[in-house]
Amino acid sequence: MTSLGPTRPRMIGADQARSRAANRRWWDADADDYHAEHGAFLGDADFVWCPENLREADARLLGEVEGRRVLEVGCGSAPCARWLRARGADVVAFDLSAGMLRHARDAADRTGVAVPLVQADVCELPFTDAAFDLAFSAFGAIPFVADSAGALREVARVLRPGGRWVFSVTHPMRWMFPDDPGPRGLTVIQSYFDRSPYVEVDQDGVPAYVEHHRTLGDRVRELRAAGFVLDDVVEPEWPEGFEGRWGQWSPERGEIFPGTAIFCCHLPG
Ligand SMILES: C[S@@+](CC[C@H](N)C(=O)[O-])C[C@H]1O[C@@H](n2cnc3c(N)ncnc32)[C@H](O)[C@@H]1O
Repeated sequence: MTSLGPTRPRMIGADQARSRAANRRWWDADADDYHAEHGAFLGDADFVWCPENLREADARLLGEVEGRRVLEVGCGSAPCARWLRARGADVVAFDLSAGMLRHARDAADRTGVAVPLVQADVCELPFTDAAFDLAFSAFGAIPFVADSAGALREVARVLRPGGRWVFSVTHPMRWMFPDDPGPRGLTVIQSYFDRSPYVEVDQDGVPAYVEHHRTLGDRVRELRAAGFVLDDVVEPEWPEGFEGRWGQWSPERGEIFPGTAIFCCHLPG
């Protein structure tokens, strides 16, 4: 439960405007709890791609970053952007939620590493065409928008020809299972092909949280339609001996099936 009060799942639609309103409200209300729960794992100036604890320092999915103009999409408190800034990248980070960006400002004060922060929706980016060499996201923005094809077009628009786009999301196959780290989370409860959004409503029936599902094929087609070339889909395996457990994540689930998909793409030069 967040400061929005109790919410409950409800089978209703959520277009782009409804999804944006719900998620802005959700992430504003949940920002303190989210960072109380995940802040230590994310770090103040660290770059973790996913709950499987894959770090950019090891994976190097972004390639050379020094001197590159980089955009972080759905940055939350922006630890990844500060990690890149400390490695010489020229980074701008944006998020829909003022509450999440307040945590980014607090972390900048704590670390002394500041990056420009912008409040924006991924579907309407306030940046000029071809402004960045590289864009990335760690679980930000993309799963929360109804118009994910439009969001990808916006990311493509602000990248220069040849620019790279790398983003992590919950692996599409997890959609079939309940968010439970234990044995219940190993039982299929819905179809992989059901694209109805997951919507939670507040006590007045107003959407308070929305997440949208795309199959693996949907993501590939949307990326190609936005002009991207897909280079790789990384499915990080659960590291041996790693005991992380929260939400839907646990060693029991992680050793059987993937929890994260990281799409690595570029625009033709
Ligand atoms: C799971 S958090 C991830 C944040 C950060 N990357 C991290 O790893 O902590 C998802 C973030 O996406 C942001 N978000 C949701 N919808 C968005 C949108 N339409 N445009 C931009 N950001 C959005 C939320 O405000 C939230 O900060």
